[in-house]
Amino acid sequence: MQSQPAPYNRTTVTAALPYTNGPIHIGHLAGVYVPADIYCRYLRLRGEEVLFVCGSDEHGVAIPMKAKKEGVSPLELIDKYHRIIADSFSEFGISFDNYSRTSAEIHHETASEFFEKLYQQGDFIEEEGEQLYDAEAGQFLADRFVTGTCPKCGYEEAYGDQCEQCGSSLNATDLIKPKSVLTGATPVMRRTRHWFLPLDRYEGFLADWILKGHKNDWKPNVYGQCKSWIDDGLKPRAVTRDLDWGIPVPLPGAEGKVLYVWFDAPIGYISSTREWARRENQDWEKWWKAPDTRLLHFIGKDNIVFHCIIFPSMLKAHGQYILPDNVPANEFLNLEGQKLSTSRNWAVWLHEYLLEFPDMQDVLRYVLTANAPETKDNDFTWKDFQARNNNELVAIFGNFINRVTVLTHKYLGGQLPSPGVLSENDRHTLEAIKMYPDTIGNSLQRFRFREASQDLMNLARMGNKYLADEEPWKVVKENPERASTILYVGLQVAAALSVLSEPFLPFTAAKLKKMLRLDPDVAPGWKSLMTDQVLLPQGHRIGNSELLFRKIEDAEIQAQLDKLENTKKENAMSDTSVTPQKDTIVYEDFAKMDLRVGTILEAEKMPKAKKLIVMKVDTGIDTRTIVSGIAEYFSPEDLIGKKVTVLVNLAPRPLRGVDSQGMILLAENPDGSLIFVGPEEDSTPNGAPIT
Ligand code: 2FM
Ligand code: ZN
Repeated sequence: MQSQPAPYNRTTVTAALPYTNGPIHIGHLAGVYVPADIYCRYLRLRGEEVLFVCGSDEHGVAIPMKAKKEGVSPLELIDKYHRIIADSFSEFGISFDNYSRTSAEIHHETASEFFEKLYQQGDFIEEEGEQLYDAEAGQFLADRFVTGTCPKCGYEEAYGDQCEQCGSSLNATDLIKPKSVLTGATPVMRRTRHWFLPLDRYEGFLADWILKGHKNDWKPNVYGQCKSWIDDGLKPRAVTRDLDWGIPVPLPGAEGKVLYVWFDAPIGYISSTREWARRENQDWEKWWKAPDTRLLHFIGKDNIVFHCIIFPSMLKAHGQYILPDNVPANEFLNLEGQKLSTSRNWAVWLHEYLLEFPDMQDVLRYVLTANAPETKDNDFTWKDFQARNNNELVAIFGNFINRVTVLTHKYLGGQLPSPGVLSENDRHTLEAIKMYPDTIGNSLQRFRFREASQDLMNLARMGNKYLADEEPWKVVKENPERASTILYVGLQVAAALSVLSEPFLPFTAAKLKKMLRLDPDVAPGWKSLMTDQVLLPQGHRIGNSELLFRKIEDAEIQAQLDKLENTKKENAMSDTSVTPQKDTIVYEDFAKMDLRVGTILEAEKMPKAKKLIVMKVDTGIDTRTIVSGIAEYFSPEDLIGKKVTVLVNLAPRPLRGVDSQGMILLAENPDGSLIFVGPEEDSTPNGAPIT
């Protein structure tokens, strides 16, 4: 297959703006940033004009909530996470041309202007309606501020904008038994005025553009979601909110109202472009308005409706903008079988990975690509991470490069020989190199990143096999000239790898170019590999051989698994909610109980009963037998001598043939373990009443 000639002259690539309520984790990377980065690097290597923009999404409703939880202002929170996110992206090699933030002045200006234009054109409906209101907090409750039962699937913890169980998009007023997230109160209805984008007016346009126009080139998961939205019929969507965090609605009489975060966030792509253009003294408009510009949005599947239905309707309403040509959304990545979650700390955080695995960016990039959740949700496991590194990057790619460069130094003093007569296998190998740019490129152009990463690994595999078949280390003894030719061919494979690996493994590619002494500034591009010109001419000197990858040991993987085990424990502790209060009783009910301080004198396990311990307890009144179901938590010898609280007037009860004459009081910890509730001082005498 041939690479298709581009029917466009430049590409604007956007990657979903991450919320600044937490750092970046592997789910974000695999779903959005790694594929977007690979794609942009690929286009650049092809010599195409590309602009890659992103930035922080700082108006999400979760932000003021998280700030409250951390005891900081929303501004402090976004500053903190914006820094962490921007720094970790840059260290990870995500090659944005600009990384902006939606709190930037240029974004407030761009989003406000966009809103005003639509307002002036009469593209909004203005409507007063009833909305949920938390009277205790004095605040309207939309989106994440309210939870309740999903009307579609019955899930009890659905949010006011979406049910995370069934994925339905909701309005807060759709929820059954709504509850305020702020105070727990049941909200009341209150009247308020808002601006709505009448999506129903765009149904025809969307049906034509997506259902007819992109049936074959959009991914089936993206197309399918769009079709179901359009088929269900679109309703007007409010684009303003009653909140104090966000971009103020730029209209008189709209005090206390802000733009809905999903109205302003995608405009952030435009603001980021404008910021870049201002800095670089460039024209921003051609990247968003010229018909020969191709626009691509890289996102996760939860963002499909916003990028395929709502934002395009906004762009269409505005009138001057191009529409996305494709929206290659990915499915979700899980971690060790469980859904990734920022709030439950179930994640591999990028900034922590960079500290714990220094200089190993490419390993994570490779694993996330080879196992990308392209067509279905996928699982990241640390064992797979280790296996992909040790068995593919080290054993195939690294091993091939190491062999060919070490042998070149050993037999040829590091200098490329002039090749002798080429064998069938040599010619075949040199020809095969020329095919790889197209093979990999075709996969990338169809957004098949997993496949492309395996195509690349196949090239390294081919190099390895070539050396294993030709055995220059044996041949050299009998026929040094033939060994030179083998290394000459092998080095051409290595050079091709240094070019073709760049989108996937940019740090490795740079290291490899340095080893081969290919000047990174004039290094050949994608297409130059498809010609008859070899990349490394005879007489060229290569640099010192270095290892490209290192093996990952079991202990390193175990350390990561232990970390996750701790997270599980912490989550289990905080999941144990306090048992609700029982029905009210009067003092007389309480006074009926005769509670005394006592001491356990003897304790032994009840034969043939796993849970029971039989104790002799001195209650001050008498010494009596008490049977208790605590054998799973205590061993009998630990109990002897314990000061405890005993309910002494409980009617005796036979347990396995032994009469239990009372009850010992215990408190239950969140993890289910038990502790005795006794007097603070051991000197309190037995029989002392508890009142
Ligand atoms: O889902 C998210 O993380 C959003 N912050 C994505 C926004 S994408 C764009 F529209 F800005
Ligand atoms: Zn649901």
